[in-house]
Amino acid sequence: MSQPDLPETTVQNEMPPSVVVFNHPLIRSKLTTLRSTETRHRAFRAILAQIAGLMVYEVTRTFATREIDIQTPLEPMKGEELGEKITVVPVLRAGLGMTNGILDLMPEARIGHLGLARDEDTLEPVVYLRKLPLDIADGPVILVDPMLATGGSAVAAAKILRETGATDLRMICLVAAPEGIRRLQAADPDLTIYTAALDRELDEKGYIRPGLGDAGDRLYGTN
Ligand code: PRP
Ligand code: URA
Repeated sequence: MSQPDLPETTVQNEMPPSVVVFNHPLIRSKLTTLRSTETRHRAFRAILAQIAGLMVYEVTRTFATREIDIQTPLEPMKGEELGEKITVVPVLRAGLGMTNGILDLMPEARIGHLGLARDEDTLEPVVYLRKLPLDIADGPVILVDPMLATGGSAVAAAKILRETGATDLRMICLVAAPEGIRRLQAADPDLTIYTAALDRELDEKGYIRPGLGDAGDRLYGTN
């Protein structure tokens, strides 16, 4: 496999660079299961949520917390709670599959929805649903879509979120193509991309190779 010409990073960095590629045995082995044609939608759904949960631990590392007073069984102490309005925005359909795993760890997050479908002839996204909190600017926003292929959908989603007021914007995806990362970085250089894997390339139909096929179809069993 050729090495894509992109900054190689690990998740140990204090200040996240603009692309974070996870390098962890749990994530690598679970992603291998997702890629396999032997994995059916029931297992795909469960494992996709698990990977998202593992990734969100890192994606939220720099989130602010608020000090709160609590009482342990032994004494009073100062504790912490997440201090901001956090918004998670899945791109339908496939982004919903990662959102469940994120919400398991961060149930206080609000959920915005963006419905985007890729026109398979032009490969450009068509927006069919947009429902976002009006005060999205009041906290960090996590854009969720497992596949970053041409980058058309992510660029359109990021543009909508910026127009709605998002300032701290991060994207969590599962598999990214170098082409999609370059396009998204060019369109929104301040957005940090967290991806479980950086794959080799796009094919002539805009599919990520080796990839995992159509994420929405794999997730919902519609192929
Ligand atoms: C997939 C995926 C992304 C998009 C990525 O969605 O979930 O949204 O393709 O491709 P791009 O980077 O070239 O824009 P799809 O359009 O297949 O919709 P679905 O989730 O409803 O199947
Ligand atoms: N969308 C997908 O679901 N898979 C790809 O490989 C590319 C776009």
